[in-house]
Amino acid sequence: MSQLDFNMDSQWLPFTPNRTFQLDPRVFVAADGMYFTTHDGKKVIDGISSLWCVGAGHKRAQINEAIKKQLDTLDYATAFNASNDKAFQAAELIASMAPGDLNKVLFCNSGSEAADTSMKVALAYHRARGEGHRNVFIGRERGYHGVGFGGMSVGGIPANRKVYGTALLPRVDHLRFIHDPVNHAYINGVEPEWQEDILLELENRILPLHDASNIAAVIVEPVAGSAGWYLPPKGYLKRLREICDKHGILLIFDEVITGFGRLGTNFAADYYGVVPDMLNFAKCVTNGVIPLGGVICRDHLYETLMGANEKSPAHAIEFFHGYTYSGHPVACAAAIATINLFKEEKLFERAGEMGKFLGNCMHTALRGQPNVVSIRAMGNAAAVELTGIAGLPGKRAFDIFMTCYHKGVLIRPAGENLVLAPPYIVEKAQIELMVGVLADAIKQHA
Ligand SMILES: Cc1ncc(COP(=O)(O)O)c(C=O)c1O
Repeated sequence: MSQLDFNMDSQWLPFTPNRTFQLDPRVFVAADGMYFTTHDGKKVIDGISSLWCVGAGHKRAQINEAIKKQLDTLDYATAFNASNDKAFQAAELIASMAPGDLNKVLFCNSGSEAADTSMKVALAYHRARGEGHRNVFIGRERGYHGVGFGGMSVGGIPANRKVYGTALLPRVDHLRFIHDPVNHAYINGVEPEWQEDILLELENRILPLHDASNIAAVIVEPVAGSAGWYLPPKGYLKRLREICDKHGILLIFDEVITGFGRLGTNFAADYYGVVPDMLNFAKCVTNGVIPLGGVICRDHLYETLMGANEKSPAHAIEFFHGYTYSGHPVACAAAIATINLFKEEKLFERAGEMGKFLGNCMHTALRGQPNVVSIRAMGNAAAVELTGIAGLPGKRAFDIFMTCYHKGVLIRPAGENLVLAPPYIVEKAQIELMVGVLADAIKQHA
């Protein structure tokens, strides 16, 4: 297709520089395995699993067949006061993969909705226990929990918050960021060691400031994904769990990126051996093919909300929350097929193995290259951080992203970082190719 068979006047693109996009558009019209076909007939390798979604690679017949079959069987059914068979089956499968007593799945459609859902569960849970005053949330600097007002408020990426001012939730504080630019500059598959205990800040500043008894929940990404793949220091998540337990604070892991195999395990909770009270997921659960998100809750949350309603009439709703498309049968059919495919092809194990190769390639090819200040690899993802151009934050990374795209490699610019997070089916030669193209582009933009 050399001529455009669409015009670009009507779509307002998300998280994209719209003013310049049309001068050099990046439009995909087909995909298969690791590759896209663009509107102008080029092949581009998907180095970022299409925003961390497509773990099993594109156009997987098993998933597509399940979707088609579902469309021909039950296309949609209301989610309120009724449900569908695929939603129950998907929930059971997802809960069976989660650690501990994370057993109850609340479905939604995206990571943003998962963030807001989990925050609402936290408030409802504390209120049901007679502690409705627990309404402070703690997020973390440079955290990303989507674009709803809840998720944005606990999120800590400045540009995402800047223009929303007083519309952000008022009773929110943030933990300091987890990265030590000096001691954590080069990390390859090991947990970084901190020279100090960064969670002392939570104990010594944040908890006393708000009073621990007012805090509903702490929400963190186990690995900070959107900010540019920053890894938690050794023992950090365990200690966070202990602090939350000590003070009756719920712990929410936002595993929208880390869930479903990115670290080589079902969830980051497994990788780090820490069970949160709620675990948010989306993206890879359907291989990105159909929107689906959710929050897996520990038993005690569900039981508390049911128990608190014991005296209310049997027809009364216990939790006033949900989406028209919660547990959509087509999305749930896609999730079931995706998870079965992950298991049959042992793709999480493969993600871990390929991730080691990716980490080694990144360190070998990029360390010492111009402007490189940090390389961080863990699981099946790696980031290289560059010094920015004075006065033009993010420009160097964006230019490198564009150069890589023109050489047929889709990578992700995130601030001054460039991130690779390929589908788990990636081959070693493809990793070498992508890292090679990235290395050349870094030199070109020195
Ligand atoms: C950790 C995390 N939470 C939430 C979200 C928001 O997900 P969505 O874009 O599906 O709303 C993302 C998206 O990248 C994410 O990485």
